Amino acid sequence: MNNGDKQQIESIRIRLLSKIKDGENITSLLRSTDFRSLLDELKVIPKDQRADFGKQINELKKELESKSREVGTLSVKQPIDVTAPFDNNQSGKEPLLPAELGTTHPISKEMQRILDIGYRMGFKVVQAPEIDDDYHMFSSLNFPEGHPARDDYDSFITSQKDKHNKPFIAPAHTSTTQIRVLKADKAQLENGLPIAYFIPGRVFRNEDVDPRHEHTFYQIEGVYVDKNVTVANLMATLKDFMGAYYEKEVELKSQPFYFPFTEPSFEFAISCPFCDKKGCRVCSYTGWIELLGCGMIHPNVLKNADIDPEIYTGFAWGIGFMRMAMIKYGIEDIRYFHSGRLDFLRQFI
Ligand code: DAH
Repeated sequence: MNNGDKQQIESIRIRLLSKIKDGENITSLLRSTDFRSLLDELKVIPKDQRADFGKQINELKKELESKSREVGTLSVKQPIDVTAPFDNNQSGKEPLLPAELGTTHPISKEMQRILDIGYRMGFKVVQAPEIDDDYHMFSSLNFPEGHPARDDYDSFITSQKDKHNKPFIAPAHTSTTQIRVLKADKAQLENGLPIAYFIPGRVFRNEDVDPRHEHTFYQIEGVYVDKNVTVANLMATLKDFMGAYYEKEVELKSQPFYFPFTEPSFEFAISCPFCDKKGCRVCSYTGWIELLGCGMIHPNVLKNADIDPEIYTGFAWGIGFMRMAMIKYGIEDIRYFHSGRLDFLRQFI
């Protein structure tokens, strides 16, 4: 680095340090023409001097950051009032809080996309509650008291009891809302209209957290009831839905499973939309991705909603919504969604 460059950095350094003393914040310093002129210079400087020059800029940046931290802690010029409306804290000479526009979170964005697909397929949308009770979580869904399948849902419960002396439950699945929509719309069955719902919801399980498991995640439940509904309708609906979300035709593979609230019950895998069954990292080189549980709604569940299972049948499914999005975008770690990492979030702007 030549002497001229050294002097240039030094004089900018002195100017910026004095601005810190005057109370200017670090964000505006790093955006100042002074600091930016150094970055512009870096682009045109001869190659052999670039590394050295870059290092000097970095050091200056670190020094400015640490000085402004010192000043910030020693002399708070105008305290932030955390209870005041946002613009009260912006009204001084220098805004106290950065005023950058936020963007829609990928969870909201993808959820909206999925609900739009459901809506276009003729499903109504209703959200599942985030605190519930034993009846909706278990009993209404044909899990009697003491049923071993209750243990599969590692649910969080409150120490406070409800009027039946049972704890409240942080729902571990969106199936809690099946009985609600069945009861709400059963009258329209007699008018020849099906019951058809997409039910998004946030659910909670006492899981060990790892790249594929979160204690707090989202599901989308599907419910459809009418006369003459069969497994074929279930498969065709899911195939269309998946195809619309992944924007390509996907194959479905089913295997028998057990859920107390469906009979028969299945677990469904879709052909990997990334590699078209050739095998890749996303599908662990199997060509298939297990995605959801589903089945024909158990007669006891229909009876709990006063719907006659001799006349009406229906299907339901529950799908891990974050997993769907992870497959679509090749996201490796479910924890990114709630991490607040800007480098992750900015990819979805
Ligand atoms: N509630 C189940 C779970 O979270 C998923 C599920 C399976 C939902 C089958 C359904 C269904 O509606 O029919 O494990």
